[in-house]
Amino acid sequence: MSFRTTPSVDYVEDVSPGSGALPPRAWYASSDAKSLSLNGSWRFRLSATADAEDDSFAAEGYDAGGWAEVTVPGHWVLQGDGAFGAPIYTNHLYPFPVDPPHVPTENPTGDHLRVFDLPSDWPADGGVVLRFDGVESCARVWLNGTDIGEFKGSRLPHEFAVGHLLKPAGNVLAVRVHQWSAGSYLEDQDQWWLPGIFRDVTLLHRPAGSVLDFFVHASYDHTTGEGTLRVESDVDGRVLVPALDIDVATGEPVTVGVLPWTAETPKLYDGELVTQGERVPLRIGFRTVALDDGLIKVNGEPVLFKGVNRHEWHPEKGRALDLETMREDVLLMKRHNINAVRTSHYPPHPAFLDLCDELGLWVIDECDLETHGFVEQDWRDNPVDDDRWTPALLDRAARMVERDKNHPSVVFWSLGNEAGTGRGLTAMAEWIHGRDSSRLVHYEGDWNCRDTDVYSRMYAFHDEVEKIGRRLDGGTGKRRELPFIQCEYAHAMGNGPGGLADYQQLFEKYDRLQGGFIWEWIDHGVKHPELGYAYGGDFGEELHDGNFVCDGLLFPDRRPSPGLVEYKKVVEPVRFEGDSTNSTVGTVRVTNRHDFADLSALAFEWSYQVDGETIEAGALNVPPLGPGESADVKLPEPSAQALGDESGWTVRALLAADTAWAAKGHVVAWGQFPVAARPLPSVPPTVRPVSGEGLITLGPATFDARTGAVNTIAGVLVEGLKLDVWRATTDNDDGAEWQTDTRYGALWRNLGLHRMHHRLETVEVGEDALTVRTRVAPAAREVGLSTVYRWTSDGDRLRLTVSVGPEGDWKLPLPRLGIRFQLAEADRVKWFGGGPGEAYPDTKRASMLDRWESSVDELQTPYVRPQENGARADVRWVELGGLRIEGDPEFWFTARRWTTEQLDAATHLTDLTPGETVWVNLDHGQHGIGSQSCGPGPLPQYHLRAESAEFSFVFSANEQSNSLIN
Ligand code: GAL
Repeated sequence: MSFRTTPSVDYVEDVSPGSGALPPRAWYASSDAKSLSLNGSWRFRLSATADAEDDSFAAEGYDAGGWAEVTVPGHWVLQGDGAFGAPIYTNHLYPFPVDPPHVPTENPTGDHLRVFDLPSDWPADGGVVLRFDGVESCARVWLNGTDIGEFKGSRLPHEFAVGHLLKPAGNVLAVRVHQWSAGSYLEDQDQWWLPGIFRDVTLLHRPAGSVLDFFVHASYDHTTGEGTLRVESDVDGRVLVPALDIDVATGEPVTVGVLPWTAETPKLYDGELVTQGERVPLRIGFRTVALDDGLIKVNGEPVLFKGVNRHEWHPEKGRALDLETMREDVLLMKRHNINAVRTSHYPPHPAFLDLCDELGLWVIDECDLETHGFVEQDWRDNPVDDDRWTPALLDRAARMVERDKNHPSVVFWSLGNEAGTGRGLTAMAEWIHGRDSSRLVHYEGDWNCRDTDVYSRMYAFHDEVEKIGRRLDGGTGKRRELPFIQCEYAHAMGNGPGGLADYQQLFEKYDRLQGGFIWEWIDHGVKHPELGYAYGGDFGEELHDGNFVCDGLLFPDRRPSPGLVEYKKVVEPVRFEGDSTNSTVGTVRVTNRHDFADLSALAFEWSYQVDGETIEAGALNVPPLGPGESADVKLPEPSAQALGDESGWTVRALLAADTAWAAKGHVVAWGQFPVAARPLPSVPPTVRPVSGEGLITLGPATFDARTGAVNTIAGVLVEGLKLDVWRATTDNDDGAEWQTDTRYGALWRNLGLHRMHHRLETVEVGEDALTVRTRVAPAAREVGLSTVYRWTSDGDRLRLTVSVGPEGDWKLPLPRLGIRFQLAEADRVKWFGGGPGEAYPDTKRASMLDRWESSVDELQTPYVRPQENGARADVRWVELGGLRIEGDPEFWFTARRWTTEQLDAATHLTDLTPGETVWVNLDHGQHGIGSQSCGPGPLPQYHLRAESAEFSFVFSANEQSNSLIN
């Protein structure tokens, strides 16, 4: 008779942090003690409930030969081609009933099994620790049949003493992982729910007399230039720092002259902690973080955070990141002038912090805590205000602080994210302040700053930020004394974020504003065989928040989005300002906007462009300015060739030598200064329109005599040219559901701007012009746009002047205003204007005036959810499909192989199939972008108002392409 007992799974719903684990301590890699990685292929069995299977699989000799396999670290839902369930995405809603601490009976449970031998040189003496760096969300562990404990706290390490259980060969490590647990209530971050052993599993030999826990205190006194080092260690030993001639006992302070650590100058001293049984490498950065005079100061200087929020993400591996990916993140941040990272919303893999120490980033290390879903019930039963949960909260705080306390890059501890307020948070803050007085405490939910050392907010609009900067925001007495940061702002969902430069201007203007952290670093798109990248809802989730999970500055494959390029420009650490009073002999004002570094690492260049072509270039002599200093630097006299055409200067700051994060020549900052203005194209109307058989001919063009529609220009078929006001709404146009009165996406659709009717009034063949009068208006509405197309020619060239006059009471801005038409074919595009990437009125700081070339396909920006994209700003002329088009004034240029309607209807990039033709938009105006998907809409100055407008385009044969054809 076989007999099965239902194993007790009470621990799953127990609010306590767990049992059996060792106390938390610093995370380090020993120089000499052995370790064994247990990463790799594990046997795997998935059950639908927590108690479906008994624990016999944990016993030695169990035959798991019939089980599947998964890779550890990994999430089972991202493995097995769908056989192991699927990811679920919710922003703040719990995907299960809010009934704390209970979780659903349907609780996917993954049994993991790994049999291993100890390496032959594994020492027989000493102890052994088994470390899990991250398991979501609750695990129970057996080694060789012995239950060694269970734990929660997904993105935190848990260690177990296992030496007494190990044998040289055939060890059986069994780990039962439950997707849902009481811990899930504390882990309601806006991200995919991804169960699994997603960080490393390691066996660590602990020789007798080895290091246990230690705390490196390394401060810097900016008044003396000295650093003080004291290493507290649970096990006595010596601290060696050869470069500083330090050899002291643990616990002993020593003060010596040092170079300080900052994110800009990440000087690390290699050292060692030596105990009787072990040597542990130390990487020491001397720096002092303080709240001084109402400001966050490091080494005596106020810091301006140019930050990002980083979730761990890889499109195939989820949060199981490899070292290369972590390094790539840090390199990309450094190369884009980012100086800070908030580890939203949990401590990252510890190796990421090593990289921040080494390459230089300020870090807000955030605890693995969010209870946002309780907002749905007005925060009733919120675990952070319920004493029963406080031990779990304190456990999480301790596991973060103890693990990461030796990283100089960490300057703030954050209690968590969006967890309301409550006694548990206060207890965490008190514990952290007591344990580590050398860093500051952050938590955004605490608007009164009861527990925190900084006033932090998310998505405050520009006007409120300004008010805070001017100290007119009121608040508690304590808050009024504190500096301000935006721990999240500028929501980078889809096309955007707009308005970055306007925020940066405020941050730079008011001392109290110490910068912010863009939301967020990377789109969490999941690589998908049919959809390209999947987002919420693509796995049939019961509840989901769609593509709100794709709101990063990087696309899922880590290609920088235009938003990142814009951010790089907006926060560049060298500012160039032109002297507009003197148009030919230029002076450029160079300002060092670093907080710590001088400009000695940079080389400077100037170049002079005429009509977008560089005709002269050279090195610019800039003194090695200290932080905050400026100098007026004279530009050389431009040569005579410059006269008559549009001309201007470009200056650049580049790395003078290779650094750890970018190669020599990497452009850090740039500026452009016009000299001579562009001569506008002129076409004297010397040719008459001639009416023929169903056709009107005017210079190089033919028109339909009945409709006045242009048919061909210079022999090129031009179809369907007409006024266009619609764009495929962006995530920011659509706005977040909680924003009401300015969600233009829906308001525009409601007005009917996506289905305008074009009523032909007259086609007038005049003396020197063909004039077509129309009225463009949506069904069911009285508003309209009287639109006149006036065509003239000098025989070679054709000029179209479009005059638009709004009629009726227009209450809304327009998405865009311009013309669109179709070309039979076009591949290569050349233009003189802004580039290389897309730009919109409030996202165009990074748009550099130059001559650019691209294919039509490369003009597209691959937003995971397709939407308006790819406009190039300030275009003087463009050549494509056999035509050259000049603008009067400059225009926005867009070309794509599908219509705006197809783009608007697409939900994934794979919905867009290129047609045979190319659709071209030439716009006089574009509405701003803003960041209303979770923040402010475009500022008023970026609104495209429905006002009278007139703009012209001059069409001619693109000689270059004709000469290629001929
Ligand atoms: C914040 C939250 C983030 C994310 C963001 C919107 O409220 O802290 O986790 O949800 O909004 O993308």
